[in-house]
Amino acid sequence: MKQSVNALASSHVTIRQSSDLPKLPAPKPEKTLKHFLDFAEALQSKKEFEETKHIVHDFVVKDLPKLQALLEKRANELPNWLTPWWLNIAYLAARTPLPVVTSPGVMFPKFDFNTPEGQLEYAAKISQAAIKFYLLAKNDQLKPDMSGKSPLDMSQYKFLFGTTRVPKIGVDEIKYGCDYKEKLQHIVVIRNGHLFRVQILDSNEQPLSISAITEQLRKVVSESETPNPHPVGIVSSDGRDKWAIVYSSLKKDNKNAESLEAVEKALFVVCLDKSSDPPVGYTEKDEQSRQALHGGGSKVNSCNRWFDKTIQFVIGTNGYTGMTYEHTPAEGPPVGALMDYICDQFDANAFYQDGPSSSSEVQHLPLTTTSEINQRIAKSSKNMDHTANDLDIVAFTFKPYGKNFPKSAKISPDSFIQMAYQLAFYRIHSSLPPTYETATLRKFTEGRTENIRSPSSAAASFVRQMVSKPPRPVNEIHDALIHATNTHKKYTVDCMNASGMDRHLLAWKLIASENNLPTPEIFGSNIYQQLNHFQVSTSQVPTRHFIQMCFGPSALDCYGICYNPQETELHFMISTFKSYGSTSSKKFAKELQKALIDMKSVINKAQKQTSKL
Ligand code: COA
Repeated sequence: MKQSVNALASSHVTIRQSSDLPKLPAPKPEKTLKHFLDFAEALQSKKEFEETKHIVHDFVVKDLPKLQALLEKRANELPNWLTPWWLNIAYLAARTPLPVVTSPGVMFPKFDFNTPEGQLEYAAKISQAAIKFYLLAKNDQLKPDMSGKSPLDMSQYKFLFGTTRVPKIGVDEIKYGCDYKEKLQHIVVIRNGHLFRVQILDSNEQPLSISAITEQLRKVVSESETPNPHPVGIVSSDGRDKWAIVYSSLKKDNKNAESLEAVEKALFVVCLDKSSDPPVGYTEKDEQSRQALHGGGSKVNSCNRWFDKTIQFVIGTNGYTGMTYEHTPAEGPPVGALMDYICDQFDANAFYQDGPSSSSEVQHLPLTTTSEINQRIAKSSKNMDHTANDLDIVAFTFKPYGKNFPKSAKISPDSFIQMAYQLAFYRIHSSLPPTYETATLRKFTEGRTENIRSPSSAAASFVRQMVSKPPRPVNEIHDALIHATNTHKKYTVDCMNASGMDRHLLAWKLIASENNLPTPEIFGSNIYQQLNHFQVSTSQVPTRHFIQMCFGPSALDCYGICYNPQETELHFMISTFKSYGSTSSKKFAKELQKALIDMKSVINKAQKQTSKL
């Protein structure tokens, strides 16, 4: 059935634009420094903590008044004092490769296809559904996301499409699709390392029919049977300065410059992949995450990627599909919402079978390389292979219960899960890990993220009670669990309301540097370094469908955990680096299973005791 885009759009209501949301306030110094001391105390000996108190006191006397005044001035002047800094520090100025730590992978539920023609049909349907979502975002027709009763900033949705990170020496540039005056009408399809421009919308912004898209994909297939001997896209997986040198060298050739412009202005990329098998001991689901994160190495699909593009749909040959997404323009939840929407379109079979056909030919986008660039391609392939082999990533679904259980016990599911990470880690390593958890700041105009830190002293006390031998009385363990989860939830609320610690400390550091002021001693202290070395790095990305996101660990000794708590099951993607030697994703999954079961048992036993009283 043909459905007009406008009819579909009118079923969504525009309630609020981001500019109506409050501006991010400058946080209060007293609260930030109290948090700093609390987190330090949980990690330090008494003597070390005395030293930290001195450092904080000196900071308050010497540096704070000037730095806070400068920050408040910036907060008055900008729509969001943090976001421009954050985009630079966390993304554009980072010189490290995008896969596997910065760019997450996202996995669709398994689709029902297993043939080359099925691969094209699903690629066409995913593309058309994504385009429908693009039009809704572009025309402000998406329902605002909410956190409780608070609407969230929706600007990230517009940044997802037509956007590219362009490599530059020192600091990359981000080119947003929504900034182009012209109407973007094409996507780029990559197969066997060859790039093609494929039309996806007509000049009136009507999506092409499924048959028109599929027909073009068939042409792509017929023109790309032989693998590209010089797949320059693999260099986009390497260090950013290396890629910047190659990129500017490519641009000197006019034809290359045209091809690169077509990639930059593509609404998104579709990678038609070749088949891949999981390594021994891993599942198909684990392999799906490898394909979404890095493509499995240069001999598999890593040469079939363009890591600068915000959205790359990766379409396997056996029903497994997903996305590699470049993180600069958006956080995980808008990407999760796009993936949910695409799944809805499949459930409702809501594709336009009729509609415009393409008015332009599929266009091969040649990139002519020099011998120097070819040498770089070989080196980048080797680097990618090393990373792909080193990353240990597993998909783990906890089936005994979902977020319904902690809710029934009047505990925040997110805080409950975070305490399970602390317990699992402690049982493996006999210490508590400095832990990063993303909190959204989207209640504020152009908001991005804050960091909810665990562990606190309350988390430490809960873990000690859980592992104590002989066992502690169950009501004491239960009280410690409730105190730890409440403390975590309280800090979560602080973070989401712009009273977190991390971004405020970062702001003082950056504003000192921007104003040529001396770097305060606090930022050179051991405790500041210690607090910024995370051994567990986590992010919750909830979705309605069975969609999982994943990313690599932020340090060699770290666990990277992306999780999706659903009502009756909890989904986790756990990653570690094999070369570290003392971490293992499977071992962590096993301990997490045990921690979640033990925590439920504590609650059940405590509830039974209370009901007997
Ligand atoms: N008793 C009963 N129910 C409770 C409860 C309690 N004490 N505390 C919370 N709940 C309920 C909530 O009402 C909510 O209900 P719902 O399922 O009907 O919506 C549910 O439990 C989940 O709440 P909670 O687990 O506390 O967390 P949250 O959903 O508020 O999420 C964050 C917390 C920090 C993950 C979230 O606020 C956030 O910032 N998300 C964005 C993270 C992000 O950007 N990630 C991507 C980075 S790439």
